[in-house]
Amino acid sequence: MKAQEWIERLPEQFVVYETTPISPSAYKGIAFIGMGGSGIVGDVIKLFLEKDGVAVPVLSLRGYELPPYVREDWLLVAISYSGNTEETLSVVDEGIKRGLKIVCVSSGGKLKEIAQREGLDFVAVPSNYAPRYAFGFMLSAVMSLFGKKDTIERIRKHLEENKGEIKETAYRIAQVIQNYIPIVYSTPLTEPIAFRWKTQINENSKTLCYIATLPELHHNEVAGLDNPITRNLCHFIILWDPEDHPRVKKRVQITEGLLKELGLVPIVLQGKGATLEERFLYLAYLGDWVSLYLAEFYGYDPLPVRVIDRIKKTLNE
Ligand code: F6R
Repeated sequence: MKAQEWIERLPEQFVVYETTPISPSAYKGIAFIGMGGSGIVGDVIKLFLEKDGVAVPVLSLRGYELPPYVREDWLLVAISYSGNTEETLSVVDEGIKRGLKIVCVSSGGKLKEIAQREGLDFVAVPSNYAPRYAFGFMLSAVMSLFGKKDTIERIRKHLEENKGEIKETAYRIAQVIQNYIPIVYSTPLTEPIAFRWKTQINENSKTLCYIATLPELHHNEVAGLDNPITRNLCHFIILWDPEDHPRVKKRVQITEGLLKELGLVPIVLQGKGATLEERFLYLAYLGDWVSLYLAEFYGYDPLPVRVIDRIKKTLNE
């Protein structure tokens, strides 16, 4: 299947997995580990759990190490589409040593072998995708673990209903930001979406893209707007959510005003939908399409990520 078809059929990936539900309060804390297209799943579920009022700390980890305070009474959820990502495997290894409860989500690879050998819970997602195009499968698997089954169904329906509009909007955005470096500003409720936009633009469109989040960006990033030589190379996008903190919403308006004063017309977007999860996936799906259209405009095949593959190969030598 081609990248375009995978993205076209993303809504179908929102399916409920029959898994034993996890009760977050049974643990002292929950840590998600994953990298790249798999790592983002941890960021998203952390945000959803926190919005639901989860009572224990939730971490979304990237890298080789498990923080020292993550002990045997924590839950570790390891997500790696290929099952072969060394950072994720390193954290799982440490988790096993510390006696954590571990759940693995993967299409196979070493992670599956380790889960079988060590008797860890394992949730299989369909194989033969590139990891970033299996985002819906991995997110659904993890959401199923946390009992968010109705939400999964609602997301699928919502994305299917709005796909036409999303594609049209994405096409227009891609036309506008073409030939500029996209800078995606977010809020606490849209931060993982901005990250997904960045990584999809990096990997699919083979293009640099940078992100910053409110309110933090009001304490540094904005000073960088003074220089017209660099700011004029960029096109700005602001992603926000109606449920963001009122002061954050005020800061969105201020940021939009600041950019306009400088003659930079930002694209300000909020997701469509009745719930945070629907709006969230609406904006994330919009970013997927923007990255695909940008790839088309620049003449790149969205699928191969030669540099990433080369680095992985070099590390294995
Ligand atoms: C490739 C991609 C990458 C991978 C990352 C980790 O499509 O998106 O960001 O997701 O290199 O690999 P996995 O997901 O197999 O653990």
